[in-house]
Amino acid sequence: MTFKEQILQGIPTELPSPKPYNEQANHAPKRKDILCVEEKQLAVRNALRYFPEEWHAELAREFAHELEEYGRIYMYRFKPDYNMFARPIDAYPAQCKQAAAIMVMIQNNLDPAVAQHPEELITYGGNGAVFQNWAQYLLTMKYLATMTDEQTLHLYSGHPMGLFPSSPSAPRVVVTNGMVIPNYSKPDDWEKFNALGVSQYGQMTAGSFMYIGPQGIVHGTTITVMNAFRKILKKGEETAGKIFLTAGLGGMSGAQPKAGNIASCVSVCAEVNPEAARKRHSQGWVDILIDSMDELIARVKKAQKDKEVVSIAYIGNVVDVWERFYEEGIFVHVGSDQTSLHIPWTGGYYPVDVSFEESNRLIREEPELFKEKVQASLRRHAAAINKHTARGTYFFDYGNAFLLEASRAGADVMAENGVDFRYKSYVQDILGPMCFDYGFGPFRWVCTSGKAKDLDRTDEIAMKVLRDIMEHAPEEIQLQMNDNITWIRDAKQNKLVVGSQARILYADAEGRMKIAKAFNDEVRAGKIGPVVLGRDHHDVSGTDSPYRETSNIYDGSKFTADMAIQNVIGDSFRGATWVSIHNGGGVGWGEVINGGFGMVLDGTQAAEERLRNMLFYDVNNGIARRSWARNSGARFAIEREMRRSPNLKVTLPNLVDNSLLDSLF
Ligand SMILES: NC(=O)c1ccc[n+]([C@@H]2O[C@H](COP(=O)([O-])OP(=O)(O)OC[C@H]3O[C@@H](n4cnc5c(N)ncnc54)[C@H](O)[C@@H]3O)[C@@H](O)[C@H]2O)c1
Repeated sequence: MTFKEQILQGIPTELPSPKPYNEQANHAPKRKDILCVEEKQLAVRNALRYFPEEWHAELAREFAHELEEYGRIYMYRFKPDYNMFARPIDAYPAQCKQAAAIMVMIQNNLDPAVAQHPEELITYGGNGAVFQNWAQYLLTMKYLATMTDEQTLHLYSGHPMGLFPSSPSAPRVVVTNGMVIPNYSKPDDWEKFNALGVSQYGQMTAGSFMYIGPQGIVHGTTITVMNAFRKILKKGEETAGKIFLTAGLGGMSGAQPKAGNIASCVSVCAEVNPEAARKRHSQGWVDILIDSMDELIARVKKAQKDKEVVSIAYIGNVVDVWERFYEEGIFVHVGSDQTSLHIPWTGGYYPVDVSFEESNRLIREEPELFKEKVQASLRRHAAAINKHTARGTYFFDYGNAFLLEASRAGADVMAENGVDFRYKSYVQDILGPMCFDYGFGPFRWVCTSGKAKDLDRTDEIAMKVLRDIMEHAPEEIQLQMNDNITWIRDAKQNKLVVGSQARILYADAEGRMKIAKAFNDEVRAGKIGPVVLGRDHHDVSGTDSPYRETSNIYDGSKFTADMAIQNVIGDSFRGATWVSIHNGGGVGWGEVINGGFGMVLDGTQAAEERLRNMLFYDVNNGIARRSWARNSGARFAIEREMRRSPNLKVTLPNLVDNSLLDSLF
């Protein structure tokens, strides 16, 4: 059968033979055995819903085995035999271009070169699922291949509920992932619902088909590191030879040295796992690998003296580095941490003075002792950082729960008021006030032709558009614009493409709309193939997450999720090709609601209207909310937008004199 025939077949008409377990693949960890016997029966009954009765006897045994062995039913037997990757859009069988573009994006998220656990349909973050099982994938692809632009496909946590009549201006796909009744949003609820096959953790861009590999993280990290230096350096002072000290060379944290190089500083990343450090080194993401502390000290001093731009991976514990740098009088300009403290007891954080191997033994055999060691290490870790900050280091929390866990361990990290932490997070201090409040966020696009030359052309167009805007940009946003122009100028040479021909570029509403229009014109002129627009959910309006994206909201509303819900509804009727809304993502199940969209630019006039309507709302919704929360940058941005757009009327807050409140209670 050809590729197209296999897609159109959906679930095969004949039962395929069982597949041997793929030993070569990077598999998802065995999930918690959380279901009782009746619930296990229910999970198998649920899985068998996808198949004719005559297959049930054979599949029931197999699915029960998968559930016992892996904690989930993935239906490995139904994984298609063709290679999984983003093909050029014309390779897909389709009745409408929009649906074909969505198939490109789905296959990219499942490409083994892109996905973390491709056999289990996990794209990133350990549990960020595209679908729960292979039957859902097969059915969804068939629906997409046969649907017209008078239909919408509704996906419930990966399950294609079906095609429903709609209209050409409606989204082609509506995705919900992990949405539950709020009282049932504890981590174990996810384990249970996912094991039953009724819910999934979509992370941010996994379950919304918008993952583009590591380049998204590199851009965000670069912006963060550059602006962290700006907080401490005098205007015009160069970053070369100045130190950024941090930890972690894992999934996301591995972007730090690359970002350090782009930000032109000396980055030192401690990593306890030699494998992780070597992997990043062999990929060229970090320049130098050092496993001796004395050697590290000598090399860092040289880099400081010679004003080098270099990234150094130190194989060892970051606490040792903070302590030794203090003793040696090495001044750290910027410090952070990207160990996985959102999962501190299961290997997210390795305690100092315990070897990597011994830690792994303790995790399995003496978890209580391991917890004590982690907490003692966090107290030492924070104490060392405090000594550096007393000397003038700028330290920020990287959204990895470092300050939260350090505080729980009794470390000295609280502010004088006893409520806040003594250091801010990267969103509170940097991304929130400098980017999100002005509407700058991780806009991205994918060239569905699969041609590198199309991506080059879009890079050129985007750079020209930003340069044109820059000529009239107000002072408040010139820095951001300048950084983004530099990013897109150098994007190609930074070699960040993995999988589909994709690009990320932080841009505000004006930038996104003008770039999108210019792309659509280019598609219309036949110079490039159709382009998919999207963004990370980690953006201005898409995500309500009190300790991350909305941590710089101070009017008490940061635990509400109205913004993210308004956003997905608002985008859906303004022209998004697909929309998604997720519970969980980044910081954990129950901790965040995040949403996103995809939009296909096919060169038509209708696409031009859609992009104008939807991109405008997609950014300004969040700016309006941030302005209502009294954020000054957002107030500036929304007032500016209202002057430009007469149909925009946003409620503005009146500010209250503090002295009036002080005397009230
Ligand atoms: N990069 C971003 O944009 C971003 C944004 C928000 C949050 N985060 C957070 O950053 C954290 C890291 O994410 P990740 O995907 O890289 O996780 P990961 O688990 O893949 O990597 C963390 C690394 O830290 C190492 N490590 C643990 N303890 C250490 C210690 N004491 N000293 C030295 N190394 C140590 C581990 O060996 C591991 O390789 C997560 O909590 C994530 O949520 C990152």
